[in-house]
Amino acid sequence: MTIDQSRPINLSVISLPLRLLFSAFLIVISLGLAMAGLQILYTHGMADGEFGLSRDDIVYSYYGDRGGSRLEVKLKGTMKDKASVADRAAIVKWVQEGSPKEQWDEKVQSIFASNCVTCHGAIPGLADFRTYEGIKGFAQIDEGKDPPALARVSHIHLFGIAFISFFVCLIFSLSVGLPTWVKSVAIVTPFVFQVVDVLSWWLTAWTPSFAFLTIIGGTCYQLASFFMIVTSLYQMWIMPLRARVPE
Ligand code: HEC
Repeated sequence: MTIDQSRPINLSVISLPLRLLFSAFLIVISLGLAMAGLQILYTHGMADGEFGLSRDDIVYSYYGDRGGSRLEVKLKGTMKDKASVADRAAIVKWVQEGSPKEQWDEKVQSIFASNCVTCHGAIPGLADFRTYEGIKGFAQIDEGKDPPALARVSHIHLFGIAFISFFVCLIFSLSVGLPTWVKSVAIVTPFVFQVVDVLSWWLTAWTPSFAFLTIIGGTCYQLASFFMIVTSLYQMWIMPLRARVPE
């Protein structure tokens, strides 16, 4: 087999094994992106107690609800159905009065005992609400993510995502028939918005008005990835069938 030097490697002419490798990778990454989206909806998305990602979710996740405690946030969120309106109101009132020990002994402990300890105190790994010591930390103001937690998720995210983006972009860079500027913009976009995303977590932890950046960062990242993956798969599998290979 001779190699035609005048024709650079491109997605529509690569060998079947390489096409399969690239495609398998891109498909698994697409599933990963979809799962990441779902996970965001389930974890951050529920932070404000309503399904679907909103600005409030981001604020609760990174800035915290500084008007309230973790307990209050949860009682408005995933733990909402665990107690009656009256019981929830009684807990919130106690928290807002500074969660005094006397009230706990008198009344609040029994509310937790009848609504919460079947899980919190019985299931290993869940916060234990049988004692005042166990609940105390959750009754304090929620400060969102602190710098050590943010640094941890940031570095994992930056390394991991850059690695994925690199391969997605490398495969896409072998596409044909697109203006160079379109390819260049698409290739740079995931890296830029990955940084915007991580930066937005820090900015939101500092002041909540930056929450919109998290949504923009994630959306642009997903759009650019989606565009590159679809284009690459198209050029590898459909374009050769149509035998329409632009020079
Ligand atoms: C059916 C089991 C169950 C019951 C009952 C339950 N919880 Fe939970 N709770 C969970 C699970 C599972 C989680 C972890 C997932 C989550 O955060 O939604 C959790 C998490 C929490 C958290 C967050 C803990 C953390 O580490 O950040 C708080 C606060 C909380 N629950 C409060 C309550 C209160 C208050 C009640 C009673 C009114 C209650 N829960 C009843 C299962 C339960």
